[in-house]
Amino acid sequence: MCTGVYPGSFDPITNGHIDIIERSAKLFDKLIVAVLNNHDKKSLFTTEERIMMIREATAHIPNIEVEYFCGLLMEFARLKQARVIIRGLRAVSDFEYELQMALMNKKLAEDIETVFIMTNCHYSYLSSSIVKEVASLKGCVKELVPPNVATRLRDKFAD
Ligand code: COA
Repeated sequence: MCTGVYPGSFDPITNGHIDIIERSAKLFDKLIVAVLNNHDKKSLFTTEERIMMIREATAHIPNIEVEYFCGLLMEFARLKQARVIIRGLRAVSDFEYELQMALMNKKLAEDIETVFIMTNCHYSYLSSSIVKEVASLKGCVKELVPPNVATRLRDKFAD
């Protein structure tokens, strides 16, 4: 059984994340989408809301589990007996941060590999923050996030 972990804040999940999830789910028996439950990082959506939105938006993918994690990602991966961490790369600017994180994670867990997937070029400009900014200013985010997320963003920023 080969298990992969795709970690992130997902505040909220975007179509860029969905693209990575759909493609990486094909590479594993099970893909765990791991939502960071970090009280230090101010988030728009609670961990429960973020998990619910991801579950709804990935309901069409059979081998997905969505869970939260606290603390070290490598501890979570070990607990789940995952051998691979998936990360998406959007642009060269992502590389330095990702390299640093992958090297540190390798130091923490020699037997777990980080695998990078190039983001679909349609979504290379996307981030959760930019989506939140557009939604907060009442811009249209229909093509940027799954429909359930667009609805929740509209509700959050409703007057
Ligand atoms: N499409 C669209 N947007 C994407 C994307 C994609 N394919 N991939 C990343 N992004 C965006 C995210 O939406 C996010 O946007 P935001 O900053 O506006 O919110 C941004 O890129 C960075 O997101 P992500 O790559 O998911 O990083 P993160 O900071 O949310 O999560 C963790 C990073 C959770 C993997 C990392 O902090 C972690 O492992 N923490 C646990 C503690 C730990 O183990 N520390 C030691 C590690 S060295």
